[in-house]
Amino acid sequence: MSKLWQKTTNVDALVENFTVGRDRELDRQMAAFDVLGSLAHTTMLQSIGLMDAADLALVQRELKAIYADIEKGNFTIEDGVEDVHSQVEMLLTQRIGDAGKKIHSGRSRNDQVLVDLKLFFRYQLQQVVEQTDKLFRHLIELSEEHKNVLLPGYTHLQVAMPSSFGLWFGAYAEGLVDDLEMVLAAWKITNKNPLGSAAGYGSSFPLNRTMTTQLLGFESLNHNVVYAQMGRGKTERIIAQALSSIAATLAKMAMDQCLYLSQNFAFVSYPENLTTGSSIMPHKKNPDVWEIMRGKCNRLQALPNDVAMMTTNLPSGYHRELQLLKELLFPAFTDLIDCLQMATFMLQNISVNKNILDDPKYAYLFSVEEVNKSVLNGTPFRDAYKQVGLAIEQGNFYPDKNISHTHEGSIGNLQNAEITAAMNKVIGSFDFKKVEHAIEELVGKSESR
Ligand code: ARG
Repeated sequence: MSKLWQKTTNVDALVENFTVGRDRELDRQMAAFDVLGSLAHTTMLQSIGLMDAADLALVQRELKAIYADIEKGNFTIEDGVEDVHSQVEMLLTQRIGDAGKKIHSGRSRNDQVLVDLKLFFRYQLQQVVEQTDKLFRHLIELSEEHKNVLLPGYTHLQVAMPSSFGLWFGAYAEGLVDDLEMVLAAWKITNKNPLGSAAGYGSSFPLNRTMTTQLLGFESLNHNVVYAQMGRGKTERIIAQALSSIAATLAKMAMDQCLYLSQNFAFVSYPENLTTGSSIMPHKKNPDVWEIMRGKCNRLQALPNDVAMMTTNLPSGYHRELQLLKELLFPAFTDLIDCLQMATFMLQNISVNKNILDDPKYAYLFSVEEVNKSVLNGTPFRDAYKQVGLAIEQGNFYPDKNISHTHEGSIGNLQNAEITAAMNKVIGSFDFKKVEHAIEELVGKSESR
């Protein structure tokens, strides 16, 4: 099948296969967004006199039909068709003839793929935020539920000071707040319209870029058309940082889970059907879910580096290898969203050991408590430290295990309300409603996503 750009010569099949690679399969995931971009672009073309009302009506009727087909899963990029952009234009031209051939005025596939990606990333980032929020709410619930259940705190993996399951669950919840600050930065950078930059140098047609910005629900636009093209790679790099930030939180949590599930710790447990067995050792209940999560999330932390290495030293302007960024980013979203959902699911089934501190080896957790008590009774800190140290050396250390600190951030005051308020504030900064409204307007309410 001929290319959009083909004149007389057929491109060599080896070259075609090498340059297209996995792009068609990944483009398929952007199809709905490609149609949205074309709906906005053609509305704008008509407003500046490059398409008449009759053609616009025909084009938009067919674009909406294609959108509905995509939603139903009835859309493929046919063999020999180079990409999603070519497929949509080809379908239009097959169905409505010349009107279909008019949609590409003032546009290049370079800004078309840019806008498709921005819309796709926006959608994926929203899924990430929603799943992170679910995990966050569950962690806060667990934290509240277990606020009085003590847990040994460790430094250097050596018994250190008393902690609680309330603090432990709540720590990961607060970590997710900061991670979403990163996602918010990525969202803001993503949420700017590149459409109208064409091949990367704008167009001699009087394109109304403000209009497509509003139609697509973008907050703003990439004003400089050369910069708009530079946004490819940059947007991905910043998104990669944000995804990697959440992944780091999940990977640490997964590692804690594996450790705490070990018989040597036995701090938490899961129903048997959420663990896996061994083909040789009949007693096994392995934490494979958390191990796979740790691996996926550690791999996700390589994403910023992968994106950087692929784009390092590229001069300004479009380059074909930018296409390969899809191979990095698309599966990264899938993996991270899966991990967030799985973490929530697992935590809905966690049981915690409420008697960990009955084991005498944890008495030392209270050494600082004993020192502090002496200090409150007037003993200088260093003397109190020595007295407790000596008692421990002589095997004469029997601490009081009741702790009831209620100051800010202590075991008795987890500040989950403050952490939740911080989370609500970050989430409130994502203008999902505006985006959803714009898309509903573009495709017509009945067919909205
Ligand atoms: N598949 C291409 C990409 O993702 C689409 C843009 C093609 N543009 C071009 N000038 N070859 O970058």
